[in-house]
Amino acid sequence: MQKKGIILSGMRPTGAMHLGNYFGALENWIRLQDEYDCYFFVADWHALTTGYEDTSEYKNNISNLLVDWLSAGLDPQKSVLFVQSSIKEHAELHLLLSMNLPLSWLYRCPTYKDQLKQLKEKNITTYGFLGYPCLMASDILVYKADFVPVGEDQLPHLEVTREIARRFNFLYKSDVFPEPQPLLTEAKVLPGLDGRKMSKSYNNTIALSDSPDVVQKKVMSMITDPARIHKTDPGNPEVCAVYAYHKLFSEDEVPEIESMCRKGEIGCVACKKKLAQNVAKFMTPIWERRQEWLKRPDDIRDIINEGNSKAREAASRTLSDVRKAMNIDWI
Ligand code: TRP
Ligand code: SF4
Repeated sequence: MQKKGIILSGMRPTGAMHLGNYFGALENWIRLQDEYDCYFFVADWHALTTGYEDTSEYKNNISNLLVDWLSAGLDPQKSVLFVQSSIKEHAELHLLLSMNLPLSWLYRCPTYKDQLKQLKEKNITTYGFLGYPCLMASDILVYKADFVPVGEDQLPHLEVTREIARRFNFLYKSDVFPEPQPLLTEAKVLPGLDGRKMSKSYNNTIALSDSPDVVQKKVMSMITDPARIHKTDPGNPEVCAVYAYHKLFSEDEVPEIESMCRKGEIGCVACKKKLAQNVAKFMTPIWERRQEWLKRPDDIRDIINEGNSKAREAASRTLSDVRKAMNIDWI
């Protein structure tokens, strides 16, 4: 089948993936692999831009992230799966692009100021952190990606990437870089067990690696509409995280659950039991595949080595185009 273009996206190896990440990004990646030439990478250098002090978990996190991906359904036969730090061309391009990148483009990035405020406990008034959009631009441009599936929070970085591409093409009178487009799909938002945003720092996640037992227990611990005390109290599903989950996991049962909740015809415990079964049913195949992958660490190594080689081939082709366009291809 003729593919529709090149897609690239990355994820930081910051710990076990959870269902929020799955519905926010990975599910979409899995769907895209059939239609596009996909490159998906572990963004370990990106993780260093905000977490350069304690690096003790990175090695573990990288291999766990790969296991998460494979178990969830990323397919190395269809997509190129690789690790950013294995492809030194990302760094070379980052360096070359940094030469003509105006500082003002970096300072005005909304995420720059936001993160400085939010991550006060870390000292990220660093060159590496300021230059993070340049690194992301290099990740994307080094594969001449046409489309980048990203969340809304990453849109400003993609805009900088497009500006960087335009500037390069203009300065060196070339057409080395296509301008990558964002691929925004309606991201499904899954709240955490307590109704807040699902996040490791709130300790309210369901990890992709949780066993079906653990998943069921976690669902039973979810917080429901606080106004409901007795089963017969009319409930408001809109304020209930359990209902938000039902919408993703319970398909045809949803209208019935909604009406029973509103009329006070179903208790929250029964409602959660139904959900627990449905979530566990969805996650069991992922968990089973994980058990298989965990027995085959050598195969995972091979997959990554192969992904790295394919990525390196494409990246080094781009770097020769870049050096040629800049007229620095003397070596
Ligand atoms: N910046 C993204 C994040 O923090 C990860 C990332 C790095 C990325 N490089 C990318 C995403 C290139 C898309 C394309 O989640
Ligand atoms: Fe939430 Fe279900 Fe209870 Fe309604 S019945 S409040 S949807 S858990």
